[in-house]
Amino acid sequence: MNSTFRPDFLWGGATAANQFEGAWNEDGKGAAVPDLCTNGSLKNPKRITREIEPGVLYPSHEAAGFYHHYKEDIALLAEMGFKVFRLSIAWTRIFPTGMEETPNEAGLAFYDSVFDECRKYGIEPLVTISHYEMPYALVEQCNGWAGRECIGYFLRYCETVFERYQNKVKYWLTFNEINAGTMAMGNVISLGTVKGYTGRILDFPDDEQVRYQALHHQLVAGAKAVKLAHEKYPEFQMGNMICYLSKYPLTPNPDDMLQCQKEMQMTNWFCSDVQVRGKYPYYADRYFDEHGIRIQMEDGDKEALKDGCVDFYTFSYYMSTCVSVTQNAQIQGGNLTGGLKNPYLEESDWGWQIDPKGLRYTLNEIYARYQIPLMVVENGLGAYDKIEEDGTIKDTYRIDYLRGHIEQMREAVKDGVDLIGYTPWGCIDLVSASTGEMAKRYGLVFVDKYDDGTGTLERKRKASFYWYKKVIASNGGELL
Ligand code: BG6
Repeated sequence: MNSTFRPDFLWGGATAANQFEGAWNEDGKGAAVPDLCTNGSLKNPKRITREIEPGVLYPSHEAAGFYHHYKEDIALLAEMGFKVFRLSIAWTRIFPTGMEETPNEAGLAFYDSVFDECRKYGIEPLVTISHYEMPYALVEQCNGWAGRECIGYFLRYCETVFERYQNKVKYWLTFNEINAGTMAMGNVISLGTVKGYTGRILDFPDDEQVRYQALHHQLVAGAKAVKLAHEKYPEFQMGNMICYLSKYPLTPNPDDMLQCQKEMQMTNWFCSDVQVRGKYPYYADRYFDEHGIRIQMEDGDKEALKDGCVDFYTFSYYMSTCVSVTQNAQIQGGNLTGGLKNPYLEESDWGWQIDPKGLRYTLNEIYARYQIPLMVVENGLGAYDKIEEDGTIKDTYRIDYLRGHIEQMREAVKDGVDLIGYTPWGCIDLVSASTGEMAKRYGLVFVDKYDDGTGTLERKRKASFYWYKKVIASNGGELL
């Protein structure tokens, strides 16, 4: 029986270029969708604009300043004993509009330095090729992923970074939370199907036909990238990445059960069924028929999906919600989309329900379905942090959250799940994807940066930093 984490377990943390790097237009970088997104909050949702509006704060522009602080940051991760660091490459650093024939050497050189710095400390980079940062020029050109030509542009980008970093990066993830494309929010953050739109991202007029066609293009592009990697770089390990939104039926009413099953299928399973099993799942047809969606497949698409199955499955897990057909249950906020309130769970300051046991349940569900190695590549508590008078940050709430989830990962490993790594989100404070805030902090390291754009970018170790260092040193044995 497996009783504990494997000896080579990949402990680490995760970030994404657009939320972390800043330097949004330095050294030839082009604008990506988040560079056109203003700051916001839960009450005052962020907006996307077509042009940079004067006097408006765009949090990605400076973000947490990793572009200029990477040496210091990676040294901090090494001090915690990180084995792996999940980060993304900004597509627009390499191809500023997404459409160039030749890459931007300055952008490529930056990631050379970052990966070299990781290697110096024996930290394995885990690279997300595209994390919510569509080149904005492609939005204008072809309505983002709605345009089939994006497949070719994306593959050129993949070929470039695979070839360049083949000796520095082994673990790759194609698209961050690709299943965002099954939700309205995905138009802005993931698919870039927002040509000509200015306004609150929550108000974007969703068109399911456009959205699922764009998602199809992403699925084909991701599969082709995996195939390319397998053929040319056999040592690469290629993973997918799903925003896993665990759902429970609110009651044992069979109607609630069925509704929950349906939502689980299209929200959580649809994309990974394609990416792991290599074809559209059986239940998709009915959904498409009932929603008037017609996916235009071109010759070779089915083969591409079949030939591009991933080697391992990764996902983000923050919370769970309930599902019911009755309308009188309380609505709860959440990651990408919310659900109904679970009376047994507490919630974060942003209304995300905290459910560590749901992680064990989820790991078992995923492993039962696919039987390939799993990695939890995002998890964590977005919370307000306070600097005490003595300069310390006592984030015991974050330690409690992480401990609870690691305990449940351990249970899942005992259950027999093949779990290979854990990279909690925003290991160094960064900009929130949903709200654009800095105040929603996930880090083990504090960054002196605030919602009004001020701050020195100084880094400070939080209490959770010292705690996580012990967790890693004991391979998850020491959680107190
Ligand atoms: C995931 C994304 O959905 O959740 C990250 O992959 C994001 O980019 C994270 O930051 C946490 O969400 P938020 O909205 O609190 O930043």
